[in-house]
Amino acid sequence: MTDAATFSTGPSPPAGHAEPAAGERATGAPPPEGAYGGERPRRDVPPLPRLIAVANQKGGVGKTTTAINLGACLADLGFRVLVVDLDPQGNASTGLGINIRGLQASMYDVILNDVPLEDCVEASSVRNLFVAPASLDLAGAEIELVPAFSRELRLKNALTEVREDYDYVLIDCPPSLGLLTINGMAAATEVLVPIQCEYYALEGLGQLLRNVGLVTKNLNPSLEVSTIVLVMYDARTKLSDQVATEVREHFGERVCRIMIPRTVRLSEAPSFGQPIMAFDPTSRGAIAYRELAREVSGGQA
Ligand SMILES: Nc1ncnc2c1ncn2[C@@H]1O[C@H](COP(=O)(O)OP(=O)(O)OP(=O)(O)O)[C@@H](O)[C@H]1O
Ligand SMILES: [Mg+2]
Repeated sequence: MTDAATFSTGPSPPAGHAEPAAGERATGAPPPEGAYGGERPRRDVPPLPRLIAVANQKGGVGKTTTAINLGACLADLGFRVLVVDLDPQGNASTGLGINIRGLQASMYDVILNDVPLEDCVEASSVRNLFVAPASLDLAGAEIELVPAFSRELRLKNALTEVREDYDYVLIDCPPSLGLLTINGMAAATEVLVPIQCEYYALEGLGQLLRNVGLVTKNLNPSLEVSTIVLVMYDARTKLSDQVATEVREHFGERVCRIMIPRTVRLSEAPSFGQPIMAFDPTSRGAIAYRELAREVSGGQA
């Protein structure tokens, strides 16, 4: 199964960054402390800005749902957040209310045509939350990138111009380990892996970790798998608990204490172009993602 030898520990991050930057605090009642776990930070929080690739080559495991809702909840805490949609399906863009058919510029232009990233950034309906949207033509990028100069570093170079404008950049990767995901990992300082609390959830994880190891070795020495989020947790099933226990045994403190429950409201929100904290702020999913944002950010803001 998982291959601990390839697991990148990376350098130990400096102790927690204190203040959220420029962004204004948005409205929204805070969830009850500890609703889905502890209120202490899991461990030292890396300094801002944090560039986090949300990756898992398995399809439908909750990458986009986590990028959207963690991003929105971090923005609600007062951080300035950019969600970079690196998936040609464009789910992170549409889930945040962006019409991907009428875009002037998209991540395709940024990655393939050297368009400045700031030219494609769109505001979302959530204060402090911005999106660099994807369009369908990004599907061709995997192939078009093959002969391109510094093909693995296109996103990293594009982000250099804007990274200081944001506290968090969340990169929603497609369900593959191709060049787009490699661009995401090469540009990031951390990888966040959502894992479904379901059978076969751990399948493919060893391959993912080996790829992170390859990116660390060849492209981005400071990259680390910093965060594992257990998602689609169903307290009624023994299997959910078994998977959670196994993942915690293997990955220890990298696994967030907060688990995201399986709830219908979380799957309904994207069709309204809203993150869960706007769509249904008091739902279990909204509370869990708020708690996750607190845990990931170390509870500041
Ligand atoms: N906690 C949850 N409870 C219920 N449904 C969920 C939850 N998280 C995600 N979903 C639903 O599961 C499906 C897959 O989620 P999502 O799109 O976030 O996965 P993904 O890993 O980004 O998929 P892909 O690999 O296709 O990019 C979606 O329909 C989403 O609404
Ligand atoms: Mg997705």
